Amino acid sequence: MSKILILLLAYLACTLAVYGNKGACKTGNYTDVNVDWNRYLGKWYNVAVSKSFLFSEPSDQCTIANYSLNTDGTVKVDNEAIKKTGKLSKAIGTAKIVGPGQLKVSFSKLQPFGGNYEVIYVDNDYSIATVVGCNGLGFLGFSDVWILARDYNVSQEQINSALQAASNQGFDISDVNLAGIAACDRL
Ligand SMILES: *[C@@H]1O[C@H](CO)[C@@H](O)[C@H](O)[C@H]1NC(C)=O
Ligand SMILES: *[C@@H]1O[C@H](CO)[C@@H](O)[C@H](O)[C@H]1NC(C)=O
Ligand SMILES: *[C@@H]1O[C@H](CO)[C@@H](O)[C@H](O)[C@H]1NC(C)=O
Repeated sequence: MSKILILLLAYLACTLAVYGNKGACKTGNYTDVNVDWNRYLGKWYNVAVSKSFLFSEPSDQCTIANYSLNTDGTVKVDNEAIKKTGKLSKAIGTAKIVGPGQLKVSFSKLQPFGGNYEVIYVDNDYSIATVVGCNGLGFLGFSDVWILARDYNVSQEQINSALQAASNQGFDISDVNLAGIAACDRL
């Protein structure tokens, strides 16, 4: 490996280490929440998200995920968000159920293994859930936390307890911001 590449990687590792939620991306380590996927299906609002999350921008408004079953038993992931420009953006992905609380989500053929999606908490009513994932740079210990709720008008207390679940598992929640859910009012 060239010196420049090594320096670049070292720099990147340092940058990531200080940027937000960087405990460690403990892939596949949070699968002990036994998710009833049939109950989990349907529409969720992304009410809070790590700044580092690759699949949304801090300026995104009213981000929605709708999970449904494909005929082959995989899960269809239908994500929508209102972009800064006011345009609705849509991303359709496919998820494989790989563990009791774990999915691998892919939005393109360029992502054959899929991104890690681990449900670390879901309440009894399936009204709020905490998900962690390793993003593309997971090998450097980079992970994201996000909170999904059935109702975008969920209380801050509920969001806090869902965040606490991530914190209890060793995730740094200091870079998790409320997503632009106020915009859902306009839909
Ligand atoms: C998973 O978590 C356990 C308990 O916190 C820890 O001992 C183990 O090293 C973790 N595994 C990975 C792959 O991070
Ligand atoms: C979710 O997706 C399914 C399958 O495409 C669709 O039938 C359903 O209407 C969608 N639900 C919402 C709330 O958008
Ligand atoms: C959101 O919740 C608050 C308090 O529970 C309530 O006053 C308000 O009307 C709700 N807004 C919507 C759009 O449901």
